[in-house]
Amino acid sequence: KSFLYKLWKGDVSSKMLNPRLQKAMKDYLSTNKHGVRFKGKRNSKLTGDQLFCELKERVNVKTIDGKEAPFSTLGWEKHVPQIPLVKLYTHGFGSCAVVMSAGAILNSSLGDEIDSHDAVLRFNSAPTRGYEKDVGNKTTMRIINSQILTNPNHHFVDSSLYKDVILVAWDPAPYSANLSQWYKKPDYNLFTPYVQHRRKNPTQPFYILHPKFIWQLWDIIQENTKEKIQPNPPSSGFIGSLIMMSMCNEVHVYEYIPSVRQTDLCHYHELYYDAACTLGAYHPLLYEKLLVQRMNKGLQDDLYRKGKVILPGFKAIKC
Ligand code: C5P
Repeated sequence: KSFLYKLWKGDVSSKMLNPRLQKAMKDYLSTNKHGVRFKGKRNSKLTGDQLFCELKERVNVKTIDGKEAPFSTLGWEKHVPQIPLVKLYTHGFGSCAVVMSAGAILNSSLGDEIDSHDAVLRFNSAPTRGYEKDVGNKTTMRIINSQILTNPNHHFVDSSLYKDVILVAWDPAPYSANLSQWYKKPDYNLFTPYVQHRRKNPTQPFYILHPKFIWQLWDIIQENTKEKIQPNPPSSGFIGSLIMMSMCNEVHVYEYIPSVRQTDLCHYHELYYDAACTLGAYHPLLYEKLLVQRMNKGLQDDLYRKGKVILPGFKAIKC
């Protein structure tokens, strides 16, 4: 059976990846750039429903609220939005779409289906213009990594991609998160452009994720995976799916688990080929995907044809 077929069944291990990706994973494990020290146990026996309940109980979407040092001393309480992210919409959203940037979404004709959701999440610099037929044109929220804010090529200040949407930024902090150390030495300095953007656009909801939230997700992935996973933060796709599970009744995730259109084309909007974009090198992407596959409530046929997984929102199911 093909790798893709096995992935649809949740029956793959890193040994089935190409040698280059396996080597990259090993190198990340030995480098341990973020100083991860996992204290939990590894156990991969939970069913999809048990895993869902574990996530529901433990996942707490936390953003920088300006109340902790060093942000408190730096007067950040007045920089951050007054309303917390998960409380922006009092009753949450009904159904939500999470649109991954994978090349496999090209020629999917999923645009109308994606736009029919109450809220649509997109990532980084993924455009809609010119790709509407396949990815739709509605954007409610965008998750951006710290490179988007700091790399001038992305034109964070001027680009319309980052206007009229909820923005959620994140940056990989050390595992044992001391916010002061992170503030002094972020991976990319997102703090200055964040404050500037908040001053210029005070009504736009714009948050920075708390490193605790990101590493808590990592812990849960590792606890529920037999193999040792890369000691690096989960991908934006996984982070975003969990944020939407906290804000929506139902979450439709597109082209995270690849459809029959699977391709090494990294992004639908860019001519760059690398299998690592779909299966992971830096991020523990393969393992994230296996957890999401385990929780899928959608039809198997929608997984094959649309690359779609349906996850219930946390409020939709009693545990
Ligand atoms: O590359 P970027 O992080 O901007 O893409 C957004 C998210 O889409 C990734 O974090 C990953 O979860 C998902 N993705 C994927 N397969 C790809 C490209 C992106 O699963 N080929």
